[in-house]
Amino acid sequence: MKNPFTPTYGSVPPLFAGRREIIRQIIFGIENGPGDPNRSTVITGARGTGKTALLHQIAVEALEYGFISVYANSNSVLLDEILRRLEKEASEFIERENKAKISEVNISGFGIKIEYSDQKKSWEENLENIIEQLTAMNIGVLFEIDEVRGGDEQIRRFASLFQTFITARKNVCLIMAGLPHNIDNLFKDKVISFIRRSRKQELGLIDMSEVFYTLRETIETEGKTIDADALKIMTEETAGFPYLIQLIGYEVWQVSGDKKNIRRKDAEDGIRNAQRYIVSSVIELTLNDLSDKDREFLVAVSQLDTPADMSLIAQKLNVDSRYISQYRLRLIKEGVITSVKRGFVDFVLPQFRKYLRELSE
Ligand SMILES: Nc1ncnc2c1ncn2[C@@H]1O[C@H](COP(=O)(O)OP(=O)(O)OP(=O)(O)O)[C@@H](O)[C@H]1O
Ligand SMILES: [Mg+2]
Repeated sequence: MKNPFTPTYGSVPPLFAGRREIIRQIIFGIENGPGDPNRSTVITGARGTGKTALLHQIAVEALEYGFISVYANSNSVLLDEILRRLEKEASEFIERENKAKISEVNISGFGIKIEYSDQKKSWEENLENIIEQLTAMNIGVLFEIDEVRGGDEQIRRFASLFQTFITARKNVCLIMAGLPHNIDNLFKDKVISFIRRSRKQELGLIDMSEVFYTLRETIETEGKTIDADALKIMTEETAGFPYLIQLIGYEVWQVSGDKKNIRRKDAEDGIRNAQRYIVSSVIELTLNDLSDKDREFLVAVSQLDTPADMSLIAQKLNVDSRYISQYRLRLIKEGVITSVKRGFVDFVLPQFRKYLRELSE
């Protein structure tokens, strides 16, 4: 039996949990037409909250509304990549149109060469040309740029061209995704102030009832059943974190082997197996993105009773509480800790506490 879970970064899960409201708003923007504020959206969330998967899901749904998508990672060849992918996606429509034109023209005895990417033209001109032709054919373009960060020359150049498309009411939409601190820097960029006016969508945790349903449906669709108590402990262990839905689902499925029904014991063993991978595929990745001071703060949180008292964290680190509140705010924004009640914080994923405690022992 095939394991249906997808604990790999960037892969779209068989059943997409939650996020309906965000998708609905973006699709509304696409349907509503040029000028809709959702046509420029920025998606942010911690590692493993499902930014890339959401971009792919939106691309699939946008296709039904006549939008082709161009997905690219923000890196040093971003602009070339966007043009190349757009050419590839658009070629089917543009060539068809051009062939018709060419045969018409040939009848009247004139030769015509229609080009949609010209080496002698600037990148902007080439892109504009394609958008122009697609808009004329009533085909929209959804640009999706993943892993964006601030101060990037290529993003700036793309964004200023995109702004001219918006002004000219071209049929385009832009969704960017990135980690919270990178999106913060992007919003601070004075050169591309229009990004600051984009819609911001923050990916948090998935509702527990939705996780419960997603795990069960994914299992049952692939031909197994699961006992209610097994499902319950799996759901709790995910803490609503998208990557963990896939990882825990995957490991429990593996443990269950050829058995048709998944029991509590399988769930317990699978959850235990998942722990190892949580460290390398979530915790360490997340800690790598943070500063030394952030990590010191987190170690202090892990050593206190849960939820951790902010004044005790300050005492432990030997600093005053005003100073510490900056770290608190940043780490909340980064999706690593949450504010439980006034003056107390806790980890979003309980597995962080265990890992950091063991590390500092
Ligand atoms: N809504 C969802 N429901 C179920 N599983 C999901 C959902 N979103 C993402 N996942 C799963 O979570 C994992 C991480 O998703 P993804 O790679 O999109 O995260 P990300 O936010 O882009 O992470 P990073 O910041 O490292 O790029 C994948 O295994 C994916 O299949
Ligand atoms: Mg990603």
